[in-house]
Amino acid sequence: LVERGGPGPAEHEWFSQWLHEVADDIRTGLMPANVVPALRAAFGEALSADTLQGLSFIKPHGYAGDYEILEKIYLRHVSADPRYRNWDQFFQKQGAVEAVRNRKQYFIELLKDLQDARQADANVGVLDVACGSCRDVLEFLGDRNDERIKFDCLDCDAGAIAHARRLCRGFERQLSFIRANALRFRPTRRYRLIWCAGLFDYLDDAKFAWLLTRLFGFLEDGGELVIGNFSNRNPSRDYMELVGDWYLRHRDAGELVRLATAAGMTPDNIRVGQEACGINLFLHIKQS
Ligand SMILES: C[S@@+](CC[C@H](N)C(=O)[O-])C[C@H]1O[C@@H](n2cnc3c(N)ncnc32)[C@H](O)[C@@H]1O
Repeated sequence: LVERGGPGPAEHEWFSQWLHEVADDIRTGLMPANVVPALRAAFGEALSADTLQGLSFIKPHGYAGDYEILEKIYLRHVSADPRYRNWDQFFQKQGAVEAVRNRKQYFIELLKDLQDARQADANVGVLDVACGSCRDVLEFLGDRNDERIKFDCLDCDAGAIAHARRLCRGFERQLSFIRANALRFRPTRRYRLIWCAGLFDYLDDAKFAWLLTRLFGFLEDGGELVIGNFSNRNPSRDYMELVGDWYLRHRDAGELVRLATAAGMTPDNIRVGQEACGINLFLHIKQS
């Protein structure tokens, strides 16, 4: 498969199935876990920085799921090089990748609802935690510019902040960029909406509960905290883990609600939404 330049569209299904079988065999002990490095080595240049799966594996920014790979997902990047095109097309066809693109839209819809609901002359504060490239914010502002919605965009990666700043040029009056660790950040104001996608699914339950409680404390009365987390129904999990060395903490809706209630949130104020594929879930918690 590697010699032929990766799976063509007609081979996506069986290649995914093959990855599931290998992952199952490792999980059940039929195959030793040390086949994984050999499997990855067999990819050769197909696991270099010239492919999306290679970027995921190499982690040029030091961690999985960086703003650069997210940008390539949003822009549906596929290599022009015939040696890599099939691999990138396979990557872009992944359910998890579609779910990431859908969650951008989910955030944009939340922002539109916020805009429609706000009183005409009122300012509304939004905190975007782990904002990455801010492509979601940019698309919202490009579509419905509203100077009364003020965004604080926070990320710990200086590269992500620099990229987001460049991308959102022209909207400086509404945007503040903050380079900080979300776990240590202390705001100087309160927010109507706090959005965090692509961070909680890297946290263990203790840190999840701790950060949820902390962010909830930054809401104004009537505000809402929305936390994204990949669900156990992620069909791309085996490909992400085996090939891309990209591990997430998948959680189902029940687990998200349990974590929120165990952290002291009122059950009536909690709901779980999902993007169109049902792969990325969103825990909503209202401050009443
Ligand atoms: C998967 S990306 C998601 C970006 C954006 N929310 C999106 O959906 O496109 C995760 C981002 O979280 C940031 N991040 C990871 N840990 C963080 C932390 N402790 N504090 C702040 N940002 C963090 C990374 O730098 C990266 O930009």
